Amino acid sequence: MWSCITDFFTYETTKSVVVKSWTIGIINRVVQVLILTYFIGWVFLVEKAYQVRDTAIESSVMTKVKGFGVYNDRVMDVADYVTPTQGASVFCIITKLITTENQVQGYCPESEKKYACTQDSNCTRYLNKPGSYGILTGKCVPFNATIKMCEIKGWCPAEIDTIKTTPMMEVENFTIFIKNSIRFPTFNYTKGNFLSTITDDYIKKCNFDMINNTYCPIFKVGDVVRYAQQNFTKLADKGGVIGIKIGWICDLDKSNDQCNPSYSFTRLDAMSQKNAVSPGYNFRFAKYFKMENGTDYRILVKAYAIRFDVLVNGNAGKFNMIPTLINMVAAFTSVGVGTVLCDIILLNFLKGAEQYKAKKFEEVSDSPLDSQSNRFYRSQLSLRHNETIMRSSDSGAFSIEHYNYSQ
Ligand SMILES: *[C@@H]1O[C@H](CO)[C@@H](O)[C@H](O)[C@H]1NC(C)=O
Repeated sequence: MWSCITDFFTYETTKSVVVKSWTIGIINRVVQVLILTYFIGWVFLVEKAYQVRDTAIESSVMTKVKGFGVYNDRVMDVADYVTPTQGASVFCIITKLITTENQVQGYCPESEKKYACTQDSNCTRYLNKPGSYGILTGKCVPFNATIKMCEIKGWCPAEIDTIKTTPMMEVENFTIFIKNSIRFPTFNYTKGNFLSTITDDYIKKCNFDMINNTYCPIFKVGDVVRYAQQNFTKLADKGGVIGIKIGWICDLDKSNDQCNPSYSFTRLDAMSQKNAVSPGYNFRFAKYFKMENGTDYRILVKAYAIRFDVLVNGNAGKFNMIPTLINMVAAFTSVGVGTVLCDIILLNFLKGAEQYKAKKFEEVSDSPLDSQSNRFYRSQLSLRHNETIMRSSDSGAFSIEHYNYSQ
């Protein structure tokens, strides 16, 4: 019992070996300097490890499109070509329309080539199956003077979407106005994309560009498409999805006007560019009317559109004691890692390595006979004080303190 107590109240300290060698001395200091430079230069100054970061950005986006186009001899305004109309962060500008007028519920021939037929028996295999534009009835009916098609039940006449139309080229000159407010909840920091330096007059006239007007919230569609490295004519013809990204990377240790948005543009449906099966972007919608006798009829519209997705991301950092302390401790601890490298060089590659090994290692044995001779180390491994070199490969069993070596 008493021996346990005396063993407990002891103090152990590391024995140091001082090596007076220029080679290893220089290597040691160079490694230490490199590690310190890395921590100060990269971890602290570039990566700002002394800050806490808030990546859970909250954001709201409102959009408004302006401009007039002409399509099929009709002047088109915002209500005609923007959908949905709420001005959300995702909206479409319609560039091309294929309309099928005056559709009513009834029976009529299919319009797609694969339903061509010469007699009813060609169509019976489709009976009650969904066709392209309705449910097939299994009959073969004349489509025009020369061609016969399988008959459908549904909205008639069926749409013919193979007709070629040119897109509304004025879309290129339409403008998109974006209002974006963000908040970093951790720091309760709010900001909007109308910077305090922007005046009313400026907003009325400006157009975003990457060099002079980087904070103007009004974007010309043609510019956006160009910044996304797309060809406007092609995009307007087939439709597509363009991303307008607003990035907020803020250092809240700096002044308020250093926290600014940065805009970037990209095509989001990159897959449909390469893929020939379903290129572009289109959708259908219908407008419904009632005839005097009470039956419904509708105008079906197949719309090709450029969809814009406004994506907001960002993070903010601010000085905080806890990450600062943790990273400083990590930095100081890492300086000691240089010792491992120096040990490896010293014990393996330097002239007189055997001699250094002899000084550094003393053989340890756990034989109870040895330990009895030394009451002080009874509970521990005993040390046999001879000059046997321990052929151990674990010179990497280091501790963080300096090992110093004497010759
Ligand atoms: C867009 O505007 C420019 C300059 O205002 C004009 O020259 C151009 O013809 C317009 N483009 C279209 C497609 O209307």
